[in-house]
This record gives sequence, C-alpha cells and structure tokens, in this order.
Amino acid sequence: MLRYFHKISIARNVVDSWVLKPTHVRRFATTSQRMNKPKVLVTRGDIPKSAISILEEKCEVELMPDHSPISRIDLLNKISGKDGLFCLLTDKIDHEVLEKAGPQLKVIGTMSVGYDHLDINEIKKRNISVGYTPNVLTAATAELTVALTLATTRRLFEAHDEITNGGWAKYAWGPLWMCGGGLVGAKVGIVGLGSIGLAVAKRLLPFDIAKIMYCGRQEKSEAAQVSGEYVTFDHLLSESDVVIITCPLNDATRNMFGPAQFASMKSNAVLINTSRGGVVDQSALVHALKTGQITAAGLDVMTPEPLPVDHELTQLKNCVLIPHIGSATLQTRTTMATMTAQNIVNALEGKPMPAQLC
Ligand code: NDP
Ligand code: DGY
Repeated sequence: MLRYFHKISIARNVVDSWVLKPTHVRRFATTSQRMNKPKVLVTRGDIPKSAISILEEKCEVELMPDHSPISRIDLLNKISGKDGLFCLLTDKIDHEVLEKAGPQLKVIGTMSVGYDHLDINEIKKRNISVGYTPNVLTAATAELTVALTLATTRRLFEAHDEITNGGWAKYAWGPLWMCGGGLVGAKVGIVGLGSIGLAVAKRLLPFDIAKIMYCGRQEKSEAAQVSGEYVTFDHLLSESDVVIITCPLNDATRNMFGPAQFASMKSNAVLINTSRGGVVDQSALVHALKTGQITAAGLDVMTPEPLPVDHELTQLKNCVLIPHIGSATLQTRTTMATMTAQNIVNALEGKPMPAQLC
C-alpha cells in the first residue's frame, strides 16, 4: 500500500515537473503567443527604442538594420507576408509594394503627418488601415518655419558666411551691407491654413506684421484667431511680402508655384516652404531667384530629397536651405515614433488608432 502511494506521488511529481507547474504553463503560453504574433516590418534601424518596445510587446518585429532609408529591393522583399508596416516619408508605398506584401497586410503606420508617399487609392482598395502623426509635430514645425522665415528675411546664413569669406573684413559695419527685409509691417500670405499654418500665423503676430492672409479650399473659422483674411491664391501672391507654404502635396497642389505665379509675386517677396518640395516648380524658382522676380527663398523641403550637393539651388546666396528638419526636436520625433507604433498595434488588435487617416 505504502509502495503504491509512493508510486503515485512520484508520478505526480514527474507530471508536475513538466506540465502543471505554472511557470511551464506560462512558458508554453509565451511560445504559443509568439507563434501567433502579427509580423511587422520597420523600415529603418534608428527608430526611438520606446516605439520598438511598443511593437515588440505585441508583434514579431523585423527591424531593418541601417540608419538610412530601406532600399526599394529590400522593401519589396521584406514586406512580403507582413501584417503591419512601420514606414517613413522616404518610403514610397505604391501598387508594387502592396502587391508584394500580400493580402494579409492590415495596417500601415507612417511616422509623418504628410502622406504623399502613400498611394492612398491602392491602399483603400485593399482595406488596409493607415495611421499617421498629426498635431504632435505642429509646434515644432511651426517653430522651425518661423526660424526659417527669420533666417531668410534677415539673411542669417549669408551673413555668417561673410565672417569667414572676408566680406566682414572688407565692408565692416557698412550702412546697407547685409540688410534684409525684416518682418515689421510685412503682409504675410499663408498657403494652407491648417494646423501648422495657423500655428505659424500665431507665432508671427508678435513680430508686428501688418496682417495675415491665407488661401485654401475653403474659408476657415480658426482664422479669426489671427485675424486672417481669406483671399484667392492670385491675390495672396500679388499682395504678400512673405509667402509661406504649409499645405499638403497632392494633385491639386503639385507645382502650384510655377513661372506665372513667380511672375505675379512682388519683387521684394520672400518664399518659405516647409510643406513638400513638389508644391514648387523648382526650375521656375531658380529662375525667379536669379532674375530678381522675388528676393529670396527659404526651403526646408525640396525635390529631390536629399538634394544633390551641387544642385543649382545650393549656389544661390538668396536661397536658404535646410534638410527637412521641420519636426526635428527629440521630443517630437520620439512622440511621432511611439504614436506610429501605437497606431499599428491598435489596428492589429482591432482597437481605434490614436490617429487614423483611413
Ligand atoms: P493640415 O491638414 O492640418 O493642414 C493642411 C492645410 O492645407 C489644410 O488647411 C488644407 O485645407 C490646406 N489645403 C489643402 N489643399 C490646399 C490647396 N489646394 N491650397 C491651399 N491649401 C490647401 O496639415 P498640417 O498643417 O499638419 O501639415 C501640412 C503639411 O505640412 C503636411 O501635409 C506635410 O506635407 C507638411 N509637413 C512638413 C514638415 C516638415 O518637416 N517640413 C513637418 C510636418 C508637416 P482643407 O482643410 O480645405 O483641406
Ligand atoms: C511630416 O510629418 O510630414 C514631415 O514632413 C516630417 O515630420
């Protein structure tokens, strides 16, 4: 009898040791969960860790190793079989990529508010959800737009160069040397009074500008906050001393600024673009800057990006160029990344995304 109970107790111990122990149950569950985790491709390696952690908790993540945009060939290969995609504005997501991905692709999270790199029609056809990052970058981008406006109207980069190229030594404190337009009394025209456009307008008012005008598809009630006057695009061009582009790039805005538009601008006008390079016909801009149709331009965005180092624009003293850094504060970029990750995870779990585009 005793031997019988002993045998039972040994048997229980054996069973307990590999099946019933809660730790083993947990381990088994973890393995099984991992096997069922949705697969997500992250297109570059230098994404803030906090965003990758959000993804890794719920997904099997394939993180590209490079700190540079994924090559087209890698994108086409790696997207195959994925349920989710974490991408950036440098990744063109079109018919070919979506075909390669396969029908299981459920969500695309882009770490940007702009989405001109996504073929939205093709995406919608496949019922794929898209998450993006509106509002969290508005303040940073508006701040940078104001910085670029000041740098361009007051010729900051050119003036800096004068220190090292001997210009300062030659002209010293020349009464008219390095004079710019400034903002006091300027009429400012904003093309696209959305989140960023409005935030720029608010930040410019304390510089004692004369007024804000704006154009767009419709009049905006928010414009009252900056006493903004709704005008036609043509009126804005002919009246503004500073023209600031903050609209999205789409079929209606592509090459919106061409030869005719530059010809109708004031010769003292300054053009600032922090939206997308494609809104401006760049050859027409070069011509306008060379011939004095307008005084200067400040560009955070251009075509192509990155701009070739020997591009004609880089040779022009009256063109201030910065490399698409509108939203580039550490805090903003980190928030954009975690929001993108959360958009993806929520969509994969069938929950509402923090910011869903479609
Ligand atoms: P919003 O959608 O809030 O604002 C865009 C505005 O542009 C809307 O008011 C829209 O009006 C208007 N608009 C649309 N079509 C036209 C048109 N044909 N003419 C004039 N206005 C038009 O977006 P955000 O302000 O958040 O961002 C704007 C753009 O800025 C992004 O799409 C992105 O490309 C760019 N961006 C660049 C950054 C950088 O680093 N340089 C950083 C962040 C954004 P409506 O409501 O009628 O559509
Ligand atoms: C965007 O989000 O569209 C910007 O261009 C990058 O911040």
